[in-house]
Amino acid sequence: MAVIDVIKARAKANKKHVLLPEGSEPRTLKASEIIVREGIADITLLGNEQEIREKAKELGVNLNGISIIDPETHKSLKEYSEQFYEMRKAKGLSLEEAHKQMKNPLFFACMHIKNGLADGMVAGAINTTGNTLRPGLQIIKTTKNANTVSGCFIMEVPNCEYGENGVFLFADCAITPDPTAEQLADIAIASAQTAKSLLGMEARIAMLSFSTKGSAKHDNVDKVVQATELVKQRAPELMVDGELQADAALVESVGQLKSPGSPVAGKANILVFPDLQAGNIGYKLVQRLAKAEAIGPICQGFAKPINDLSRGCSVEDIVSVVAITALQAQ
Ligand code: ACO
Repeated sequence: MAVIDVIKARAKANKKHVLLPEGSEPRTLKASEIIVREGIADITLLGNEQEIREKAKELGVNLNGISIIDPETHKSLKEYSEQFYEMRKAKGLSLEEAHKQMKNPLFFACMHIKNGLADGMVAGAINTTGNTLRPGLQIIKTTKNANTVSGCFIMEVPNCEYGENGVFLFADCAITPDPTAEQLADIAIASAQTAKSLLGMEARIAMLSFSTKGSAKHDNVDKVVQATELVKQRAPELMVDGELQADAALVESVGQLKSPGSPVAGKANILVFPDLQAGNIGYKLVQRLAKAEAIGPICQGFAKPINDLSRGCSVEDIVSVVAITALQAQ
């Protein structure tokens, strides 16, 4: 069974409630119908109700079983605006501006989740990554044991003997442009949790670099060495090694030559890239050249699941990301 089918089956077994703030967007509407019909999650669309209903009618989308919230007329608008003002007034937010921002479905959805009325949010079919994630960063914030939100991909590489029978988790490929050593450690620890919760995978984390165990000297290498030490201190139960080059991380013979006795070198199933340029380029190369299935980006580190779609996403992509979000919420 493909990884995404297992995720959908697990989402169905304990149904969660996911908010879709781009309520009148055609792919989102079509995906909502499929998600509810297949029982993957309960769905609430956000936006102007009349606009959503007209668009659904035009597309032939059946809205039975799908709830709609219009933030502009919702009974909690005033209360949420006041809550948001209290959270952000020290940052210079006025009550008037809080009220205006809370009418934006992305902000409203995050506040609805914060108040325990839904489990997660998926958007980004029409909004940029920044616009989609900023409400989550400001309202939902990070889990207690991490200060960094990052974006990982599940990579399913066909005919591949490496990793977990060709399955890997790559991070951060989507969010933090230039992570510090502390942030890299956060990314590694969050990736281990994601691998466990979504894939049932026991983490073997490689902290990637252009150097293996001191073969090169550079500030960028020092950052990876420091991050590896931080992971060991903060999560001693995890199998982690670094700094490792990609071949030392993946290929047994190279790994044992360059990092003898390592529980990770040559066996890594989680690849933590040193920065976003490497991570984003890395996943796209594997996706295109090795024809890998790239599932994500999956946001990790948020206190409640928020996920960002690519603006080029398909209806099926939205269904998959909602299933992932629902499973993260379990
Ligand atoms: N983790 C935790 N908190 C964060 C993070 C993070 N990674 N980034 C920002 N924050 C916090 C800030 O500290 C700030 O908190 P505060 O306002 O309470 O003090 C708040 O979030 C907003 O921070 P800004 O710096 O204003 O964040 P901004 O909204 O400008 O940017 C973003 C955040 C969108 C994640 C930015 O870093 C970004 O654009 N990253 C790159 C995204 C991208 O283009 N990815 C590649 C494409 S995706 C793909 O190909 C799959």
